[in-house]
Amino acid sequence: MEKKYQRIRGTRDIYGEEFDKFIFIFEKSKKVCELYGYNFIITPTFEVKELFEKSTGETTDIVEKEMYVFEDLKGRKLALRPEGTPPVLRAIVEENIELPSKFSYFLNMFRYEKPQKGRYREFYQLGAEAVGYKEPYIDLEILILAEDILKEINIKDYVFEINSVGCLEDRKKYSEYLKEELKEKIKNFCSNCQQRYERNPFRILDCKIDREKIKFLKPLKKFLCNECLNHHEKLLNLLLKENFNFIENPFIVRGLDYYTKTAFEIISKKLGAQDALGGGGRYDYLMKIIGGIDTPGIGFAFGVERLMIAMENYEKKEKNLIYVIYVSEKEKEEAIKWVRKLREKGIYSDMEWDTKSLKSQLRKADKKKAKWVLIIGEEELRKNTYRLKNMIKGEEILSQNPFEILEKEINSTYLQKNN
Ligand code: HAM
Repeated sequence: MEKKYQRIRGTRDIYGEEFDKFIFIFEKSKKVCELYGYNFIITPTFEVKELFEKSTGETTDIVEKEMYVFEDLKGRKLALRPEGTPPVLRAIVEENIELPSKFSYFLNMFRYEKPQKGRYREFYQLGAEAVGYKEPYIDLEILILAEDILKEINIKDYVFEINSVGCLEDRKKYSEYLKEELKEKIKNFCSNCQQRYERNPFRILDCKIDREKIKFLKPLKKFLCNECLNHHEKLLNLLLKENFNFIENPFIVRGLDYYTKTAFEIISKKLGAQDALGGGGRYDYLMKIIGGIDTPGIGFAFGVERLMIAMENYEKKEKNLIYVIYVSEKEKEEAIKWVRKLREKGIYSDMEWDTKSLKSQLRKADKKKAKWVLIIGEEELRKNTYRLKNMIKGEEILSQNPFEILEKEINSTYLQKNN
């Protein structure tokens, strides 16, 4: 026996109903994003590694231990994209795209994380970025856009958790406060937090293990400068006026370094341990860091696999399949003609290509969940009639013009379903 190959751990094959769900999310979200003026962009799967080191941040888990890094044949250090924000901004700078500008994307990402439910090493993100606006009105638009996408794909169980992580100055002050407050206590924290204490104390707030131990700390909000505080309060007011459902969570810091001011996560209880459907926030320094003009931005990304888990009552698009059956091999060529004619009319149709018995063809039609079966036999051919069997009702009709019946039936089931 030849060797069999397996998927790489943490990757998935998406097919059948999962594929339909995946495309459903893409089609629905594309409609919503475009309605809001966010047009889609596809960036390359790999970029220079340095782009992520500089933007996502050198002390983040992503850059420290999760990137798929490789050298090409010219010795360039490259990385498979772990997230979409730096590549979109790189494209805006490189292509000289006029600002302000808004983009959305539906792209695969790569992170070497420990695989579990909702966490993969190759996964898809549906994201949106608005670059060039500094007032909190765009924060409002981004949040409403994210929620509209969830509504459009029928996700109901979610909470928006919002915070402000301030500017670099605020973060510096807060880091100093954290270092002082945790000086004695840090030895009782997990090893990850002990490392974070040294390199990026801010991220201790993100720890899932030591959540309880940090509850005594003053929230970052108490350290915000006037400008950041005003931005935050104005946004909260706008959200309240919109009746936007959210909670303020002072412990959200996000796992990426570039965030400033607004930071948020969208949590769903349906997901289990990996409970973030998506996350995002402002990145007012990021464009400058990657060589663009100094301009603010904000965005978010959903994990598509997590959206797929959280989707309720996903209504499959019913395919009205007509299975064409030949009674004996003599009618097979006529059956092929019919399959092709049906397809030309936009009707899903298929047949058994290798000659099989009538019984086996009927079984296949059943397995494929065909709505109708068009049976072509010697006698019917002679009389120029066709036998059309409705597989759901079990009724059979003899007709000289099966198209007419099929089109009528397809239209009426279509209308019933969409009214
Ligand atoms: P992030 O929080 O790292 O943010 O990822 C966004 C979402 O991607 C997560 O909430 C989660 O749903 C999904 N996700 C992350 N890692 C995995 C994984 N290993 N397997 C499956 N799903 C995963 C960002 O990436 C930012 N670029 C978002 C953003 C856009 N901020 C501003 N603009």
